[in-house]
Amino acid sequence: MPVHVNEETLVFHLQTDHTSYIFKIMKNGEAGQVYFGKKIHARATYSNLMSREWRDASPSLSEENQNFQPSTIKAEYSSFGKGDFRYPAFQVTQENGSRISELKYENYLLLDGKRRLTNLPSTFDETKDDAQTLILSFKDQITGLTLNLNYGIFPHQDIIVKSAKFINSSSENLVLNRALSSQLDLPDSNYDLIQFSGAWARERHLYRNQLRPGIQNISSLYTSSSHQQNPFMMLARPQTTDEQGEVLGFNLIYSGNFLDSVEVDQYNTSRVLIGINPDEFCWNLAPGSFFQTPEAIISYTSDGMNQLSQQMAVFYSKHLVNPRFTNEDRPVLINNWEATYFDFSESKLMKIVNQAHQLGIEMFVLDDGWFGHRDDDTTSLGDWFADKKKFPNGIEHFSQQVHDLGMKFGLWFEPEMISIDSELYRNHPEWMIHDPKSTPTPGRHQFVLDMSRPEVIDYLFNLMGHIIESAKLDYIKWDMNRAITEMFSSQLTKNQQLEMPHRYILGVYKLYDRLTTAYPSVLFESCASGGGRFDLGLMYYAPQAWTSDDTDAAERMLIQFGTSYGYPQSMMGAHVSAVPNDQTGRITSLKTRGDVAFFGDFGYELDITQMTPRALSQIKKQVTFYKQYRRLFQFGKFYRIDSPFSKNGNYISWQVVSDDQKESIAALYQLLNHPNSPYTRFYFKGLDPNRQYRVNDDTEIYYGDELMNAGYFVPSIVIDGQESKDFYSRLFIIKAVK
Ligand code: DGJ
Repeated sequence: MPVHVNEETLVFHLQTDHTSYIFKIMKNGEAGQVYFGKKIHARATYSNLMSREWRDASPSLSEENQNFQPSTIKAEYSSFGKGDFRYPAFQVTQENGSRISELKYENYLLLDGKRRLTNLPSTFDETKDDAQTLILSFKDQITGLTLNLNYGIFPHQDIIVKSAKFINSSSENLVLNRALSSQLDLPDSNYDLIQFSGAWARERHLYRNQLRPGIQNISSLYTSSSHQQNPFMMLARPQTTDEQGEVLGFNLIYSGNFLDSVEVDQYNTSRVLIGINPDEFCWNLAPGSFFQTPEAIISYTSDGMNQLSQQMAVFYSKHLVNPRFTNEDRPVLINNWEATYFDFSESKLMKIVNQAHQLGIEMFVLDDGWFGHRDDDTTSLGDWFADKKKFPNGIEHFSQQVHDLGMKFGLWFEPEMISIDSELYRNHPEWMIHDPKSTPTPGRHQFVLDMSRPEVIDYLFNLMGHIIESAKLDYIKWDMNRAITEMFSSQLTKNQQLEMPHRYILGVYKLYDRLTTAYPSVLFESCASGGGRFDLGLMYYAPQAWTSDDTDAAERMLIQFGTSYGYPQSMMGAHVSAVPNDQTGRITSLKTRGDVAFFGDFGYELDITQMTPRALSQIKKQVTFYKQYRRLFQFGKFYRIDSPFSKNGNYISWQVVSDDQKESIAALYQLLNHPNSPYTRFYFKGLDPNRQYRVNDDTEIYYGDELMNAGYFVPSIVIDGQESKDFYSRLFIIKAVK
């Protein structure tokens, strides 16, 4: 039983296989946070963990309750204005302008399983994995508003999912100014905050800093989770590494403006808030209406960050990703973007397709430029019908030729966008997001559709649905290449304008939902100028995401390493592209490019009709090799070993291990070559200590414990007949010996 409720003391103890999350109803009728961490016994009361000494000058609950001081307690979901001066989890404005709420606990409901939310991507328990749902109800004594705190407990992956639902059961119009998904008050601040920040082509680099007094926020106002920040963050003890130590992970199943905030207060308590960014947000709650926040994920382990990433990866595959794709091998693809950009014809593409077929590549993805009259990025977004100049017989005919070869066919869309030079704009200029009083701000020469309008969603669904059916699409790459400016909708009233960012995201989800429901076998890959919307909200609909527009192997080592903390490798689109690399000008070997891209959803993005026979034969070998170990690469347990974000970041390594520990592949990459370099030993991870293994074609057999603890000598001079050099890579295929 994951949830223990003590009816008398009103202590709620949510237990997973290895963790305990405990809160209790306090004197003031609100819930107080008791403990989150390694599993402890269930007891009737934890007064020791709730104790607080009286502190001078802090407001108290009442004259009779001097010792109950809101600013010193650890709260479960706090309001502002009654003596707790830390940032609150929510705030509601009443008709008279007051923002004071007085929540009192009413009752709870405990259910087996975990149901999806409506209209928002969310977790579920369709495999009957012993999940439970706890709903706690509170009533605001001032307005009559109802607040439900929802908890999904997934015992076997040590995950707790939290969200809040506000129901206006009063008779006045209320405004929700702030509605976070999760609050967690931790008793101390001895943590490092680990965040994944970056920029376009430099996404999700790791930054680790000690918590300090005050507020530290990671957030976005791009109306997307953004390249710059990511909703995934960790709090780790200072000594915690990938291998050992306590760490808490937080994420949000949402793709819009978000806030991850840690506030360290005067008593070194750390308040962690996760949810929709309260800036650029509000929601009008008319009597009888409700607002549901997205779900936040929280997870804990005392066994280091590799363990945290692994438990989250299993959790997402079982309880978040479209079950249709959970166990589905992802096809090896070739995408024409970096091969041709906008400059292609059907016959030029068919040469790539035919060559790809020869090499064993399984899917051709036709990227930007196939529709309207789009020969560059200034036109045609919104006109989702074939450019007859490039495809005289339509996309159907081209797709048919790809399918005739036994290959799959995928197509690029950027559904949320509109070009001024488009039929769509000529017919519906009002569908473009703009403020009539302000000059529209272009981004990549394009503008954004108002996804909060149902007619826009209908238009896109009909056009995309038509192509999916006629061209029998197997895959869609859904791109999104600019942030939103002039966030205004003439459809909404003055008071509703701040609802627009969230309504926009709900529109995106609506379209994803309709398409994935109507066409369940189409595989979606999300993309936003590379990795600008790499988040759990989109993972729900699109099991793959384009990790970054930076396809340079050396840059990808950092990006994929950073991304792996919060997201499984089966989500990371990873392609081999041409050299010199288009983003960095760097030249790396085809081997290194392959060895990096293998650890994701593998593909190519270069003109294979222009390559030497030698390179083509190497590609063929890479494709065969990847297919042989595809499940291991895509779904194996992922271990980070040498970090590019450490002081000695010159060596980078990681490893995937099969569930039965019989098969594993490790990769060691070197950035710069140094002469007469120190000796290197590779310490493998995740093997069975008692099993014997062979490494590559080594004649010697080793025990797992030896390979993991004593290590494996890696000669620096020559291996595979190649000399060590800059951007060098090695793979170790480790197989159990019978
Ligand atoms: C940005 C994407 O990240 C690229 O892969 C490519 O699809 C271009 N957009 C096309 O415009």
